[in-house]
Amino acid sequence: MTAEATSSTAFGRDLILTDADFRRICQLIYDRAGIVLADNKREMVYSRLAKRLRLHGMSHFGEYLDRLARQPGAREWEAFTNALTTNLTAFFREAHHFPLLAAHVAGRREPVRVWCAAASTGEEPYSIAMTLSEALGPQLASQSRIVATDIDSDALGKARTGVYPLKQVLEMGEERARQFFLRGSGERIGLARVRQELMSMVEFRQLNLHDAQWPISGPFDVIFCRNIMIYFDKPSQAKILKHFVSYLKPDGLLITGHSENFTYISDDFVLRGQTVYTLRGAAQPKG
Ligand SMILES: C[S@@+](CC[C@H](N)C(=O)[O-])C[C@H]1O[C@@H](n2cnc3c(N)ncnc32)[C@H](O)[C@@H]1O
Repeated sequence: MTAEATSSTAFGRDLILTDADFRRICQLIYDRAGIVLADNKREMVYSRLAKRLRLHGMSHFGEYLDRLARQPGAREWEAFTNALTTNLTAFFREAHHFPLLAAHVAGRREPVRVWCAAASTGEEPYSIAMTLSEALGPQLASQSRIVATDIDSDALGKARTGVYPLKQVLEMGEERARQFFLRGSGERIGLARVRQELMSMVEFRQLNLHDAQWPISGPFDVIFCRNIMIYFDKPSQAKILKHFVSYLKPDGLLITGHSENFTYISDDFVLRGQTVYTLRGAAQPKG
């Protein structure tokens, strides 16, 4: 065992993660997804990837990484990426954005298109769908589309099922819960499923924002890109913001997370309120 390996196991873990392994993992996830892992994420990396090593009966991270490197097209790459994403989300998270969305689409006669660019396990795109349904009425909402994308195929799989703990759903209020969800019974007691009307408004697709080409077509009335840019460095953020320009309608909104400020990164967007941007030259949004 090398001195480096000894120090890496000092926190009493059974698998061997050396400094060099950790640096290699940071580089791989940066190259693949643009995610920047700080030095203090070492414990997190260990626990998230330990499951993969155990599944393959390995005890050294180096061995796991060597196997990945030998197989550039392996399915394991997807599992590696999924393990290192952080999927924290909630229904109507950062709630002030949803009345703004409702005001932006109020009075429309044409269907609306929204892109949710870090959809995670689905709570955000379904919150958008509920807001559109309330703002547009069921008829026009049913013709509207939410394109919900994420890099993480496991998170998208969960999102597609539309099944959530009932407790979490009831936190939105009885009325929304009843209108938009079905309560599980029998084996599914304690769970709730998104109603078909809402589900059919949302199209889930795998998309890596770090890729040069995106397999979806715009333009969108609103882009939600919340709580994801914080994982990227400034050059990646600038590249993605530039790419968003052609995906947004001239009067469209770009809605971001509370700790994400793009004022110093992009000349294309103007801050119009709490973490809401429009394209430069667009009119002040309603609401
Ligand atoms: C913290 S969650 C935010 C979820 C939701 N937008 C919200 O605010 O509640 C971040 C999401 O970004 C996704 N993600 C990370 N890197 C990505 C990339 N390069 N392309 C697309 N999605 C990515 C993760 O899989 C994760 O689901």
